[in-house]
Amino acid sequence: MPLLRAALLTLLLALIARPALADDIDPNRLPPSLDPARHANGLALTPPMGWNSWNRFACNISEQTIRDTADAMVSSGMKAAGYQYVVIDDCWHGARDDKGFITANAKAFPHGIKALADYIHTRGLKFGIYSDAGSKTCGGRPGSQGHEFQDAQTYAGWGVDYLKYDWCSTGSRDSQEAYALMADALRATGRDIVFSLCEWGSTRPWLWAAKIGNLWRTTPDITDKWSGKHGYALGMTDIVDLNEPLWPFAGPGHWNDPDMLEVGNGGMTDTEYRSHFSLWAMMAAPLIAGNDIAAMTPGTAAILMNREVIAVDQDALGRQGRRISRQGDGEVWVRTLTDGRRAVLLFNRGDAPMRLSVDWSQLDYKPAAVLSVRDLWGHRDLGKMSKSWSAQVPAHGVSMVVLTP
Ligand code: GLA
Repeated sequence: MPLLRAALLTLLLALIARPALADDIDPNRLPPSLDPARHANGLALTPPMGWNSWNRFACNISEQTIRDTADAMVSSGMKAAGYQYVVIDDCWHGARDDKGFITANAKAFPHGIKALADYIHTRGLKFGIYSDAGSKTCGGRPGSQGHEFQDAQTYAGWGVDYLKYDWCSTGSRDSQEAYALMADALRATGRDIVFSLCEWGSTRPWLWAAKIGNLWRTTPDITDKWSGKHGYALGMTDIVDLNEPLWPFAGPGHWNDPDMLEVGNGGMTDTEYRSHFSLWAMMAAPLIAGNDIAAMTPGTAAILMNREVIAVDQDALGRQGRRISRQGDGEVWVRTLTDGRRAVLLFNRGDAPMRLSVDWSQLDYKPAAVLSVRDLWGHRDLGKMSKSWSAQVPAHGVSMVVLTP
């Protein structure tokens, strides 16, 4: 009798403990992001760096613009500073041919995309392109829906190294299915192609995209303003506030993407652009410049090519930094780096300068720890300090240091 009771109890427990699959999920056809056999492509172990045509040129692009930019990437020192991908965004397309193959707009790209990719590769850079998971791109050009494998093969034949894949005109399409399909198509080409998802955070890709792509947009489009809503786009600090809480989801090969840089496009001051660039580095964001590289000012160049800030962005640990305290307009951010170092950002959102400080205890260091403090914008060592560091931070500005035990 006790034996029977024990057996019944075991059966009951087994029934209760069985992992519940919702009725409508067929375990043989799991959503792509839950498929345990699916793996990422091993690319982008640090956040991708490069340039994209959209923020500055929108649809006014041509092979000349892209070639000039590639030349300027080399001559300005951007390439040497780590910027690698030259990405053509929307509006490069012509029509599909009678077999369904996508072509380039022959007026703007008379020599075709392959010749342009070759030109970029010859300069030691990599080449990226843009498409969309729907029937049309956001600029109304042909999308890749129904042509995924065909387009991926075309891109690979052209020498594409990076694909940004947008989300306009997708109707009722399922985002996981749509992005996984293009990821499969890219993988089937056998070429290394960084995959950039651009569904604006609308279906929370940070929860499912790590096995599908290398970066995913977390927000609506950025615009070249300090803050606020401007049509469907957001100012820089509003983008920051949406992306910051997602820090647990970033890591080598899979990054939160708070959109491309506006540094140098003229809508913010250099102080504000320094904040923009520093915040992107703290957030381990892709550093995709969006300005006219061939015509940038020395001030812009100094921001985009601050190698000490870039090194924070590219830190091999791949941990996204976060805000650890907020008092009025003042914020303290920390990012854990390799070798026990920490990057610390003091950020002043206010309209007047303010003194901000950080205690070692807020950073998981012992208060008595003696740390070397390196100023990343002043490019100088501030000496060894214990307990805390403080700085006078300009309006809309930052102070950024690396602390080394
Ligand atoms: C969307 C994307 C932008 C850009 C445009 C192009 O708005 O979010 O980054 O690619 O489309 O039309």
